[in-house]
Amino acid sequence: MFEIVYALIECCLNRSIKMPSHRTEFICLNGRHSQIILECVESGAPVWRHWGEAGVHPLPDASLSSQRPVPPFSLDEPVPLTLVPTFGTGWFGPSAFHLHRDGKDWAHAFTACHVHQLSPDHVRIDLIDDIAKIDVSVWLRLDPDDDVLTMKTRIVNRGEAKCDIGWLAAGTLPLPPEAVSVQSLSGRYGNECLPEQDRLGRAGWRRENRRGLTSHDILPVASVTGPTTDFSNGPVWSAQLAWSGNHVQTIDWNDGAGWVWQAGEGLAPGELQLEPGASADSPEWLATFSPHGLNGAAQNFHSALRKRSPGRPDHKPAAPRLVHYNTWEGLYFDHDEDTLAGLIGKAADLGVERFVLDDGWFRARNGDNVGLGDWVADPTKYPSGLGPIADKIIAAGMAFGLWVEPEMVNPDSELYRAHPDWALNLAGRDRPTARNQLVLDMTRQDVIDYLFERLNNLLGTLPLSYLKWDHNRELTHAGAFERPAFRRQVHGTYQLIDRLRAAHPHVEIESCAAGGGRIDAGMLTRADRVWPSDNLDALSRLEMQSQFLQFFPPEIMGAHIGTAPAHVTGRSQSLAFRAGVAMFGHLGIELDLRSLASDQAAELKSWINFYKSIRTHLHAGQIWRGHAPDNVVWQASAGDDGILLAIYRTRPGEARIAPVVRLPFVQADMTYRVVHIHPEATAGKAVNENEDGRHPAVWPDRPSRDAGWREYRGAVLSGHGLALPLLPAETCLFFRLVPVGS
Ligand code: GLA
Repeated sequence: MFEIVYALIECCLNRSIKMPSHRTEFICLNGRHSQIILECVESGAPVWRHWGEAGVHPLPDASLSSQRPVPPFSLDEPVPLTLVPTFGTGWFGPSAFHLHRDGKDWAHAFTACHVHQLSPDHVRIDLIDDIAKIDVSVWLRLDPDDDVLTMKTRIVNRGEAKCDIGWLAAGTLPLPPEAVSVQSLSGRYGNECLPEQDRLGRAGWRRENRRGLTSHDILPVASVTGPTTDFSNGPVWSAQLAWSGNHVQTIDWNDGAGWVWQAGEGLAPGELQLEPGASADSPEWLATFSPHGLNGAAQNFHSALRKRSPGRPDHKPAAPRLVHYNTWEGLYFDHDEDTLAGLIGKAADLGVERFVLDDGWFRARNGDNVGLGDWVADPTKYPSGLGPIADKIIAAGMAFGLWVEPEMVNPDSELYRAHPDWALNLAGRDRPTARNQLVLDMTRQDVIDYLFERLNNLLGTLPLSYLKWDHNRELTHAGAFERPAFRRQVHGTYQLIDRLRAAHPHVEIESCAAGGGRIDAGMLTRADRVWPSDNLDALSRLEMQSQFLQFFPPEIMGAHIGTAPAHVTGRSQSLAFRAGVAMFGHLGIELDLRSLASDQAAELKSWINFYKSIRTHLHAGQIWRGHAPDNVVWQASAGDDGILLAIYRTRPGEARIAPVVRLPFVQADMTYRVVHIHPEATAGKAVNENEDGRHPAVWPDRPSRDAGWREYRGAVLSGHGLALPLLPAETCLFFRLVPVGS
């Protein structure tokens, strides 16, 4: 809820007001569990007073400046942290932007501030620097339902000469002294979403991605935690940048102002220049505070990203996430019309709902060194084009999806031979390839138009409803007509996707970049799904998925059941464990269906049925994750129809009897019926109780002697915990918890 206290209450929609000088006024945005308080000052940017727990801070009764002592040998009027801190005010911390005009106009201070209420939860603050001739606007919207704050900053050059911008923070946020550490994600191809934890110290914290796309190794996400924060308890301040290019995240310590958190695009020298009258927008920065631990922050982001998803215009529930079959790990480049014809029936029999033809379908593409850029079917493998295969897929009752990698070109392609100048390059420098490919210059309208024409043609002539959109190399030598192109490259890609989505609104898009190299909230307004990793090893995936879910919702997380041994790690797990781990995302199958024995096919089919029975619940529900002692992890999803709980043992137990699993998400005063379900045997139906009313065997071939665990008080489940049967390593159990009364 939006509220501007005292005089600001008069502020009407889009009517700007000037701050009177005689009283203290505040801008308040109120969420369910979080609150924002900014203090308006006579001129200059509003001062940060609070971003954190709701209700703990009454509105300040006086201005910050009237309450703060002046330390010796300091400015006689100390400069506090503002919404847009700038050097020209005497601020010693990080500036919200770096701008100059040929070495001049480099220090900024605002001479006027106007506050505009755009809606009850949405405010725009316009700041004017009349000396440097710079205007800055900041949008702040705190969603009262999910506590996610969306910020964005615009800068306008009102001067008479061009200005050069080296840094433009999407936002500046305060963190309180109890913030002690920051968790972020790193990784690499085949091992994505690795958690990093850094202790906050006086040297600050900085993560800068220079790889040209979101990247595997530094995701634009972070969670700041307090000293006792865990999955379910304690304060979490978390943020993610909606941007698919270079990015910078910083947390600085400033004596007198505390921790200062900023995020924005990473800009190359000279990359962002504004002509007189021109403006530039930062990407959006999504931030949330939760008093309920990492799970609370994750739930807030899931809600916010669901609302931004292209598949949910007007916040409608998403269509069920179809079960995929993807050809990559089963076939790689080795497929043709006959091979696929043999697989289509097998996939449909298993219950697959969308058949995705991955790499290898286009001209000369028998390996990763040729063909990118041409986007016509290979005449040897597919002499009549992809039409006959598409028809068979549709006739078998499945949707048809296709892999493309639009921004890329192999030097060995018709496209490159015709247009070598279409690749990003720096005159006179090498053009190093990665995976034998170069990157097309998406700053050029002719390149975008060419790609639109190619993809539009595929989407218009084939019954396609899905594109897996890949980007398998990082940007180097990213010059376009000698100027840095990183930023414009991202905007060019966004433009192409937006154009295609507008022309083909029924087509869904999956974002992939050598696995999980382009997963961010910017892409997620355009992509319905992401591919987190080529690593299908269930043990790797279990940790990776838990980290992924900290920032992104489960229904966009491609989760495929692969083969054993897993191609990326060489490790093997049972089909039940591979499937049990894949259940918590958007399910797919990625193995050679020709090698599947009939008993395995039957088991796989049961898991697919189980997924179909839980997906509506899972893809709209709230998720909790947790660790139990002795190598057990769990994940739960709550919806209107109860709670789905999955328990995974990752390694052999060290205790003879496994410690209990405490379930912090249940309501203490509620009674729950705890039902074990056997997805692999029952296709998702709850197993009937034994005749004596006891819980049935909890592991198929090891009946439990534990009796009477049918109904529990919530307080027992959260305080005492759920006892586990003896579980071998790399196994999982599924339960449904149904509240049966209080
Ligand atoms: C990347 C993707 C894979 C597959 C290949 C095709 O590596 O992550 O899933 O699509 O490209 O070349």
